[in-house]
Amino acid sequence: MRLLMLAPPGAGKGTQADRLAQRFGIEHISSGDLLRKEVAEATPVGMLAKSYLDQGDLVPDEVVMKMILDRIVDADTRGGYILDGFPRNLRQAERAYEVAKDLGLTIDAAIHLDVSHDESIRRLLDRHGSQGRADDSEATIRHRLEVFETATLPLLNYYEDRGVLIRINGEQSVDVVTEEILEALAARGL
Ligand code: AP5
Repeated sequence: MRLLMLAPPGAGKGTQADRLAQRFGIEHISSGDLLRKEVAEATPVGMLAKSYLDQGDLVPDEVVMKMILDRIVDADTRGGYILDGFPRNLRQAERAYEVAKDLGLTIDAAIHLDVSHDESIRRLLDRHGSQGRADDSEATIRHRLEVFETATLPLLNYYEDRGVLIRINGEQSVDVVTEEILEALAARGL
């Protein structure tokens, strides 16, 4: 099983990816979590990535792809994966596809969670209050949403053209969103 989540900040990518990973016994690979770990450990990748994360900009493609592509190939040997936050732009998607195609590992479904900007902002400000994630200030959330619109949203067409896009209304309870994803996957024989 090879899945990916494609949705704006605060839409519930991480929340749903955790549930799907447990349900299918696959690995949850979150590019944001991996980058935050590199920052926390002050590795060379972390030191390079920190200012991008703090400002809500995308970390350079080469850095992210070097960090993530081997993990994806590796996770595939253990039953599959769900990608959360990668790919984030067309260049990352095309590069990932080249690698996957050569190895026969292309994705089965790309799951889009549709959530309005107002709802994303509300959820992330709530999370800022409880968890204090550095990039959850209102100005940075708004910038992350702009980056999503310009860099990531075009991927919806990319995956739709490949016939693997699933669209879900993300403004429902966590349980209902999970149920609808599972139904949509089952309808595709997954
Ligand atoms: P990343 O970590 O991917 O953050 P993000 O896309 O901004 O997404 P979030 O983690 O904020 O939200 P989410 O959609 O996962 O929602 P969640 O489940 O957490 O990226 C961070 C940064 O890393 C980027 O800005 C960039 O700098 C860098 N980066 C990462 N990947 C990169 C890449 N490929 N290339 C370049 N740079 C990259 O939920 C959010 C909140 O809402 C939680 O509190 C949750 O409990 C709540 N919630 C979830 N679902 C619901 C629901 N249905 N109803 C009510 N509340 C809900």
